[in-house]
Amino acid sequence: MPNAKRTLVTAALPYANGPIHIGHLAGVYVPADMYVRFKRLRGEEVLFICGSDEHGVPITISADKEKVSPKVIVDRYHELNKQTFENLGISFDYYGRTSSDEHRIMAQEFFLRLLENGFIETKEEPQLYDAEAKMFLPDRYVEGTCPVCGNLEARGDQCDNCGTYLNQTELINPRSKITGNKPVVRPTKHWYFKLSAFQGDLEKFIESHAGKWRDTVIQQARSWLKAGLHDRPITRDLDWGVPVPIEGSEGKVLYVWFDAPVGYVTATKELLPNDWKKWWTDDENLEWVCFLGKDNIVFHTIMFPAMEMGVNKSEVRSLKSEVNFKLKLPTQVPANEFMNLEGRKLSKSRGWTIEPHEILERYDSDLIRYSIACNLPESKDSDFSWKDFQAHTNNELADIFGNFANRVLTFVKNNFDGKVPNGKADSEFLSGLGDHAKLVAERYEKFQIREATNETMEFARMANKYFNDAAPWKLIKSDREAAASILLTCLETLRAMSIYFRPIIPIATAKIDAMLGVRTALSWDEAHKAMLQAGSELGEISILFSKLEDEQIAGELQSLQKMSEQFEKAASPVVVNASPAESVQITIDDFKRIKLKTATVLEAERVPKSKKLLKLQIEIGQEKRQIVAGIAEKYAPEDLVGKTIVVVANLAPAKLMGIESQGMLLAVNDDKGPVALVTPMSDSASGLEVR
Ligand code: MF3
Ligand code: ZN
Repeated sequence: MPNAKRTLVTAALPYANGPIHIGHLAGVYVPADMYVRFKRLRGEEVLFICGSDEHGVPITISADKEKVSPKVIVDRYHELNKQTFENLGISFDYYGRTSSDEHRIMAQEFFLRLLENGFIETKEEPQLYDAEAKMFLPDRYVEGTCPVCGNLEARGDQCDNCGTYLNQTELINPRSKITGNKPVVRPTKHWYFKLSAFQGDLEKFIESHAGKWRDTVIQQARSWLKAGLHDRPITRDLDWGVPVPIEGSEGKVLYVWFDAPVGYVTATKELLPNDWKKWWTDDENLEWVCFLGKDNIVFHTIMFPAMEMGVNKSEVRSLKSEVNFKLKLPTQVPANEFMNLEGRKLSKSRGWTIEPHEILERYDSDLIRYSIACNLPESKDSDFSWKDFQAHTNNELADIFGNFANRVLTFVKNNFDGKVPNGKADSEFLSGLGDHAKLVAERYEKFQIREATNETMEFARMANKYFNDAAPWKLIKSDREAAASILLTCLETLRAMSIYFRPIIPIATAKIDAMLGVRTALSWDEAHKAMLQAGSELGEISILFSKLEDEQIAGELQSLQKMSEQFEKAASPVVVNASPAESVQITIDDFKRIKLKTATVLEAERVPKSKKLLKLQIEIGQEKRQIVAGIAEKYAPEDLVGKTIVVVANLAPAKLMGIESQGMLLAVNDDKGPVALVTPMSDSASGLEVR
């Protein structure tokens, strides 16, 4: 094995069931790409791997909705997403797909090695069965109430509201997403991965990275370990996925989270059929950095490492096996939080989203990359807003960076005939850039990519200050030679900046190189060293960034609002049985799912900048809650304090104008809005049930 240090960088494989959104870019792909580009500029050996996750229920549900085969869905979105990444300058070395033959073989290989090593066994367990659809309901094919937080729309595998990973039989009032029926519980045979066998090894593995990985990542992994690991079913009753490579398993495929991470290995092999093992072998000169969003942490710090450990336990490695060496475990997991949009959670189903492939038609990829890089959700959730996008573009890219480039190049064109002036570059200033570059490099190495971005803009500030302080437009009249040296220094600075900014804005920096006529690409560490040849001709000057107009940004906001309104309107009511929509009948059980309770209003205040909303602190029995209600046009805050009202107590929390509402009060409405609150006729305590 070669001894040079090398880094494998993987970015979580997006599901090929729809276009990626800007949340994906911020959580995973922009920081991963910046990191990779930075490493390459340092001359390090890097391999950047990604691809489409094409199996599992997310895909089959999309296919069911459109009444097409899953293959139609994955073919469509694999191509679209691959193209979008390319248009954004995300520089994967390879973008694979988990529906490939090579991948089927590789995933089965992992299964067989684990089976051989005694880490897979079969079990009969109760599962939810839809008698009408005649099928067991995997994962997201069933919905119900979360036993932990009461969210009415928890999925069979996970509650999106509180983040709990669920076993589908734990759901309260489960319903089949296929027929709407209440499923029955029936035993069925599945293959289980003995995750519990790795408890001790995983504890050691996680603790060995404590202090080196982000706190959030270590905390999440620890809390799983603390709860105690349980064996997990790794097969599903579906006909889309990697078939279980064993007799008696007809109609079952591997669970998507078993095969998807193996996709990183497959993709490497597809790109480098003869050389792939050097990127997966347990060698201390190799680092494996996994970029992903916080919802993927457990799969990359617990599940997949356990699978690798299980494969690595092979004593006698079968010669015909592909994986006849010890596999590398993750060395870094820089997981990000989520990025919101205009203060609200991104939601595709609510039409509250931005899809990069769509805005790329109007905005340069560099603008999108830069704005996202400034807002990376590294330590907490962040927010993308159109106003902020405009501000980053106009006030930073255009006014600071673009302005410097333009002033310097224009000055050289007008005063030095468009040729690199003959002078002596200011080595003190340039080495100051070099020092600052070391600081930025440290940020990248620590995965503080947002801070690296902010610090990178500092180069442009330093450059503008240098130009302003030196005032060459005055100097040129008295001391042409001194002015020549200043401009030479500025051109060298611009050339160096083109390298420092390259990880963030690859297109604009390539333009700068063309304007400077530079062909030799210097590395990050050498960028501050003077290298321009006096007398060499500069290229044509072009504008790097044009400013975004207020009207354009207002238009974006409007169309976002409009889209979300359309989605809200179109959102069909929950059809609880098959009667016509207007006269939907519900059963008493359906009604019982809604918990109505009396509540006392403790405090009430207006929500700033809102005509309609009041924020109430209420008490439901012993419990205190905050709710936001659209009754401000009808009631003054002081009218409400002390009143007993009726609330829906098990409504999933939601945010209204950024304020959390943990329930909903009942009011009588006419077509203009609320006219009267629902209250008990006689005084009653809070926390009583309303039926
Ligand atoms: N498709 C998954 C998601 O979007 C991520 C898969 S990451 C991999 O959440 F490790 F499994 F590849
Ligand atoms: Zn929950």
